[in-house]
Amino acid sequence: MNVLVVGGAGYIGSHCVRQLLAAGHNPVVLDNLVFGHRAALSPAIRLYEANLGDEAAVGKILKDEKIEVVMHFAAFAYVGESVSDPLKYYFNNVVATLHLLRAMLAAGVKKFIFSSTCATYGIPREMPIVESSPQAPINPYGQSKLDVENALKSLAHAHGLSFATFRYFNAAGAAEDGTIGEAHDPETHLIPLAIDAATGRRPALQIFGTDYPTPDGTCLRDYVHVDDLSRAHIAVFPKLETPGAALFYNLGTGRPTSVLEVIQAVEKVSGRKVPYTTAPRRAGDPPALYADSSKAVRELGWTVRFPGINEIVATAWAWHAARPAGYR
Ligand SMILES: NC(=O)c1ccc[n+]([C@@H]2O[C@H](COP(=O)([O-])OP(=O)(O)OC[C@H]3O[C@@H](n4cnc5c(N)ncnc54)[C@H](O)[C@@H]3O)[C@@H](O)[C@H]2O)c1
Repeated sequence: MNVLVVGGAGYIGSHCVRQLLAAGHNPVVLDNLVFGHRAALSPAIRLYEANLGDEAAVGKILKDEKIEVVMHFAAFAYVGESVSDPLKYYFNNVVATLHLLRAMLAAGVKKFIFSSTCATYGIPREMPIVESSPQAPINPYGQSKLDVENALKSLAHAHGLSFATFRYFNAAGAAEDGTIGEAHDPETHLIPLAIDAATGRRPALQIFGTDYPTPDGTCLRDYVHVDDLSRAHIAVFPKLETPGAALFYNLGTGRPTSVLEVIQAVEKVSGRKVPYTTAPRRAGDPPALYADSSKAVRELGWTVRFPGINEIVATAWAWHAARPAGYR
């Protein structure tokens, strides 16, 4: 398939580009490099440096590259910033996406894969989270993703757009060969922060909340390897052949892992101590978030190759050890 990977120079997108190549597909990337890295892509990959909201630019790429399916990874994803600057999030995550979708429909490209998030569920009442669990986001980031999910349903109904929305839990890890990995700036994700604390690149890690109703008092999250996420995006291709297909899948391992267990994994894999301090709970952090992804397993034949936190952290450690300064 000819695939346009929007946001393909970012963390998850760049891993998906690799998986697409490995599966014999033909990816090209659109990214404005606001957060992405040219070096995360093989030099052989065509990168169009453009804004995804630029309908003329997108339309031309769709036509020139004979694109059959669009994967959309590009978004702003800092929850706290989305609270302080919501317009930034609604414009980039919702408005620009609507432009992208309009350019697709104008070009007759009707297969779409969207990166959504467990943040659309807000503070769920029941664990594990299933796709039919109520969606009630508690911040503009999560709301912006839910708004796109809703727009997609309308477009499937009105125009026969076929789409799959993947609600990721905590993407983690790096390519097994250690050549690409997570390099966000600023970084807010626990595993790279813990690794940087272990190596002394950052000060001690802060743990927010040690009095949650969880086995060790710290929050439970569901870490899923970035290559496992990527493979689901390819496994869904046959389903998109049905016009108007409207598909929603959770992607997580279903294994709740606490903050302290992540720290222990980093210490085990790296052989170093992770210095940390403790701080009060942060507003809006649910005690536990983990997925029931059995729908993706059942319907897509999705398999998790990295089920355990130690294996996931080992790939992240290999990347950080090889490139301590990321792509710089
Ligand atoms: N990382 C996670 O744990 C996680 C969890 C749930 C959902 N998600 C979602 O997955 C997607 C990918 O996440 P990531 O961690 O790879 O993010 P990332 O920031 O590493 O990648 C996003 C890419 O999109 C590009 N981009 C942003 N706005 C753009 C625009 N207007 N035009 C063109 N390019 C633009 C950035 O330059 C970047 O390369 C995001 O949509 C995010 O909301 C991520």
